[in-house]
Amino acid sequence: MSNKNIVWHDHHVSKEERSSIKNQKPCILWFTGLSGSGKSTIANAVEVKLNALQKHTYLLDGDNVRMGLNKGLGFSDEDRIENIRRIGEVSKLFVDAGTIVLTAFISPFQNERDTVRSLVQGGEFIEVFIDTPLGVCESRDPKGLYKKARKSEIANFTGISSPYEAPISPEIHILNDKISIEDVTQKIIDYLQDKGYLHA
Ligand code: ADX
Repeated sequence: MSNKNIVWHDHHVSKEERSSIKNQKPCILWFTGLSGSGKSTIANAVEVKLNALQKHTYLLDGDNVRMGLNKGLGFSDEDRIENIRRIGEVSKLFVDAGTIVLTAFISPFQNERDTVRSLVQGGEFIEVFIDTPLGVCESRDPKGLYKKARKSEIANFTGISSPYEAPISPEIHILNDKISIEDVTQKIIDYLQDKGYLHA
């Protein structure tokens, strides 16, 4: 519900000033892929590397955010859309703070990922498709959820009973069934370095 008595306040310190003292360009590294595809593992490894490079980061992770900010949201299409909308708004605030944000959510719908992209400036949204075949995710099944989904003990499970829309033109596309975590991580760090994100 919009409220006409709410007025936007401009801040005295700009995004550019916040990021320049951090010696970096803020952005969102938006990891998307099936459950068990490796999003969280890779996002964590990238954050460790960035931290070692003295970069200022924050990792927003699916399961953790669903225990706090998004407690109460389920896995219907409507709830997933609201989940991603809130994450998008939070990510935008982190970008405004001058931070490199890493997000690890299935985020199955192209439309919602595009909406988050449109919240920030050109170049600030980097879509990272962790492309792991369903069969590989299912054989890993780190949380035992695919097994339950196959027995219909979980409804609307992505890849089984709920759709996943693969990114149309992600900035970074990782085929994650044969590549090592170290190589994936380096590929993403190289991208950030080459595109100038790691300097003010
Ligand atoms: S999203 O679709 O709204 O982006 P999100 O990334 O937050 O999903 O949460 C996905 C995680 O929730 C999965 O990794 C898995 O651990 C858990 N989960 C529980 N139920 C489901 C379900 N029905 N579909 C997918 N993931 C589920």
